[in-house]
Amino acid sequence: MKSNDGAAAAKRRAGESAADRVSDGEVVGLGTGSTAAHAIRALGRVVDGGLDIRGIPTSHQSRALAREAGLPLTTLEDATPDVAIDGADQVAPLGVGDVTGDGFADAEGTILVKGGGAAHAREKVVDAAADRLLVVVDESKLAPVPDHPVPVEVLPDAVPTVETRVRDLGGEPSLRAAERKDGPVVTDNGNLVLDCDFGTIEAAGDLATQLDAIPGVVAHGLFVDLAAELHVGLVDDTVVHEF
Ligand code: A5P
Repeated sequence: MKSNDGAAAAKRRAGESAADRVSDGEVVGLGTGSTAAHAIRALGRVVDGGLDIRGIPTSHQSRALAREAGLPLTTLEDATPDVAIDGADQVAPLGVGDVTGDGFADAEGTILVKGGGAAHAREKVVDAAADRLLVVVDESKLAPVPDHPVPVEVLPDAVPTVETRVRDLGGEPSLRAAERKDGPVVTDNGNLVLDCDFGTIEAAGDLATQLDAIPGVVAHGLFVDLAAELHVGLVDDTVVHEF
């Protein structure tokens, strides 16, 4: 099996493992990205099998996928998610943790870096509203300490002032450029994204609070201690950690 095939299979395994934890009658927050997409497809199959499940999408992508999979949809106006299933660009343990071997065994929770698909603002609203967040990743996403650049969704007019504040916090912001379109990525909410490189992030909770306090920041991609379960897809297995 080629390594790309192995990574794709690991993502599928993680997504399907989380979908298995959804019960009849539940409302499910639908994360964005290639791993959450496997969970959405699996939930569509469960609905085909007769279970009554409704989804709340976090992006155009997850809405379209859910419709294609035959998963009935609802909104935060009409329902509260019992559970959310979402991917991440990086996952590090909160507190004492060890990502090797049985990884995350001693961790108090997780630090997620999200927003690679620029969907983190809606993802944070839906994930935080859910009673339990199930995070789905392949093992390449695990890190002992977060060091992935943090995506920050910003009101367009506020880009210069937010850039200054991010530099004051020790970060290096970079306006995310679109592919197959000239100019920047525009989010589903009509905003722009600064990818902010802070190097190794030793105090993620503090940084999250500082970013939240910057005027013009809509949402950043640090999700600290939100996850109830971490489903890690391996080449031939899935490991689940509960917090
Ligand atoms: C979307 O903006 C992100 O938060 C995704 O959840 C994240 O990029 C994970 O995507 P993959 O599962 O495709 O790696």
